[in-house]
Amino acid sequence: MSRVPVNVHDYERLAEETLDANAHAYFAGGAGDEVTMRENRAAFERRKLRPRVLVDVRAVTTRTTVLGTELALPILIAPVALQRMAHPEGEVATARAAAAAGTIMCLSTAATTRPAELAEAAPGGLRWFQVYVFDNRALTEELIAEAVDNGFSALVLTADTPYLGRRERDLRIDFKVPEHLTMSGDLFGEGFDAALSWRDLEWLAGFGLPVVVKGILTAEDAQLACEHGSAAIVVSNHGGRQLDGVPATLDALEEVVEAVDGRAEVLLDGGIRRGTDVLKALALGAHATLIGRAMLWGLAARGEEGVADVLRLLRDEMELALALLGCSSPADVTRAHAT
Ligand SMILES: Cc1cc2nc3c(=O)[nH]c(=O)nc-3n(C[C@H](O)[C@H](O)[C@H](O)COP(=O)(O)O)c2cc1C
Repeated sequence: MSRVPVNVHDYERLAEETLDANAHAYFAGGAGDEVTMRENRAAFERRKLRPRVLVDVRAVTTRTTVLGTELALPILIAPVALQRMAHPEGEVATARAAAAAGTIMCLSTAATTRPAELAEAAPGGLRWFQVYVFDNRALTEELIAEAVDNGFSALVLTADTPYLGRRERDLRIDFKVPEHLTMSGDLFGEGFDAALSWRDLEWLAGFGLPVVVKGILTAEDAQLACEHGSAAIVVSNHGGRQLDGVPATLDALEEVVEAVDGRAEVLLDGGIRRGTDVLKALALGAHATLIGRAMLWGLAARGEEGVADVLRLLRDEMELALALLGCSSPADVTRAHAT
């Protein structure tokens, strides 16, 4: 393979060569038979774009807004744990690349960089904080307070993880967090609050930031998220790492969009590897998307420059694809642009 990566798949191969087997198993794996993880990709391959031609596309932009904030592209950085296991600079590298690209980075509760440290490292960056609620509510509240004090602008509650999914690649390799790394909230050591319920959204809203619920796959839960005041919803199956056998996020998207009916912004993650994937998600009603592994592969291969390049490649792919689709901006993409 050429050493100059020209797309996210190239970065995936470079990352596999760079990472040790322990880290690669954790980052690449899904739950159970990984059916859902594969489905996320397969769903993008099944859907087809419906281009309109002879449209004036001299001025194409990928710019959009998410929760009132202007972004250079409808691709955010999903919360991903343990980024210093991918690269020594970890979340700091990711935050700087996201800031340079003009998008939001969502910092994981299980990050290897504290919220305050991230804010200091990328002061101009846009950042959201992802919340796992531990049995130890005081620890959870301490982390949220640190995020609020350091300019994070939304709280993203991950709703699909009362327990960690069963990830068999981790079991086979006897996955271990490298000894020199510390997570803000220890994913493996602290227990999650498995009694968490919709009522807890009020507790979360009490911190004064918009609440985003991540991990919704049904109309019923989308409806409840809206009733409980979510500003946005992320249609997500955690990259196929939680309940194996659930649908691809792209296939769950339309029922969620319909149930939300404009009351909240609907975002999607899972399987995004191409600019055209983003366009398919937009056509089926997503307002924007998030990338997990695509970012990780850039980070593992090349650190900050790798994440920046992945964002640049996806932005460029998307810009060209918008023009070829006959659209001048993300807002121009409609349901008629995909089958
Ligand atoms: C290695 C890894 C770690 C993750 N850690 C978290 C996390 O700490 N919190 C969270 O809400 N989601 C986490 N996710 C899920 C991502 O936020 C996102 O939903 C998923 O990666 C999207 O799928 P993709 O990897 O195909 O882009 C993680 C995903 C991966 C691959």
